[in-house]
Amino acid sequence: MSITNLQQTLLKKIETGLQEIDLPSDPVTLYGPYRYALTVGGKRIRPMLSLLACGLCDGDIEEAMPAALAIEILHNFTLVHDDIMDRADKRRGQDSVFKKWNENVAILSGDVMFADAYRKLNYYGHSDAYSKEEYAAMHEVFVKTIITVCEGQALDMEFVDRDFVTHQDYIEMISGKTAALLSGALQMGAIAAHTTAGKREQLAELGYEMGIAFQIQDDLLDATADPEKFGKRPGGDIFEGKKTYLTILALERADAQQSTLIQDILDDENPKAEQVDQVLSIMKELNILNDVAREIDQHYQKAYQLLKKFRTSEYQQELEKLLIFLQNRDH
Ligand code: IPE
Ligand code: IPE
Ligand code: MG
Ligand code: MG
Ligand code: MG
Repeated sequence: MSITNLQQTLLKKIETGLQEIDLPSDPVTLYGPYRYALTVGGKRIRPMLSLLACGLCDGDIEEAMPAALAIEILHNFTLVHDDIMDRADKRRGQDSVFKKWNENVAILSGDVMFADAYRKLNYYGHSDAYSKEEYAAMHEVFVKTIITVCEGQALDMEFVDRDFVTHQDYIEMISGKTAALLSGALQMGAIAAHTTAGKREQLAELGYEMGIAFQIQDDLLDATADPEKFGKRPGGDIFEGKKTYLTILALERADAQQSTLIQDILDDENPKAEQVDQVLSIMKELNILNDVAREIDQHYQKAYQLLKKFRTSEYQQELEKLLIFLQNRDH
C-alpha cells in the first residue's frame, strides 16, 4: 500500500514525539533498553489510531499526541515483558530486550516505561482545555486498558497448561491481551477531541473488532509468515505451546491420532523444529488456514461497517486505508 501524505505526516509526528522523549543517560541498564525498545521499529498502529480517532471526532490532532505517545510506550512495555513470558529471542527482527541484556533488565526497564507512559497523561490534567471529567475519563480508559491487557496475558499463560480451550475462551483472552489496547487507543483519541460518549462507544467497538482480527492474524502470521519480514521466530507459538486460533481449530478437527500428536508437541517443553513443522503440516491438511483467514476477514468487515457510521472526512478515509493495510499485512 502506498503511504498517503496524511499518514506520512502523522507517522513523522509520532516518530519525532518518540525520539524527543527526554531520557536520562544513567542508569544505562534502565534507559538504554527503554530507548532501544522504542527505536528498533514497529508499525506505530496504536498511536496512529489515537491521532486518527481524534481527527475523526473533529479534534485537534496535536492535542491527542500525549495520549498517542502514552499508548505506544505502554505497547512497547507490554512487548518487553511479553518476550520474557514467551521466551521470544526476536522482536522486529532484532534481539528482544531480555535476550540483548537479561531478564532483570527487561523487567525493570519495562516498569519504567510503564510509569513514563502514565506520566504522559499529566498533560490533560494541566491543560485548561480539558475538564476534570475528561482528565478522569482519559485516566480511566488507560487504567482499564492496562488491567484488561494483564488479564488477557494471564489467560494466555494459563491456557498453555489447559488441555481444552474453547473458541469463547480464546476470544476472551485476545480481547484482553490485544483488542483492549487498540480500543483504548481509539477511545483516548476521542476523549482528546472532547467527543460524545456515543462516538467514543462506537470507536471502542471498532477497536475491539480490529483487535480481534489483528490478533488472529498475528497467530496466522506466527505460523506462516516470512520470518525475515515478520521479525519473530517462525512457529514461536507452537514452540511455546500456545493456544492460538490455529491450534484450537486444529484440535477441534483432528482425528484421535493427529490430536494426540499435536497435544504432545504443544506440551513438549523443548520441541524440535521438525515437530513444529509437523503440526504446521497437519494444520494445512485439515484446511485450517483458509478458515482462519475467513474469520479475520469477518472481523475486519465489522470494523469497516462501524467506521461507516462516522461522517465522511479525510480521517475516516485514512482510517479505512489503515484497516486495508492491516488486513493485507505480512508483518
Ligand atoms: C505485536 O503488535 C503484539 C500483538 C498484539 C500481536 P504489533 O504487530 O502492532 O507490533 P509492532 O509495534 O508493529 O512491532
Ligand atoms: C500479544 O501477544 C499481546 C501482548 C504483547 C500484550 P503475542 O505474544 O502473540 O505477541 P507477539 O506475537 O509476541 O508480538
Ligand atoms: Mg509474544
Ligand atoms: Mg504473548
Ligand atoms: Mg503472536
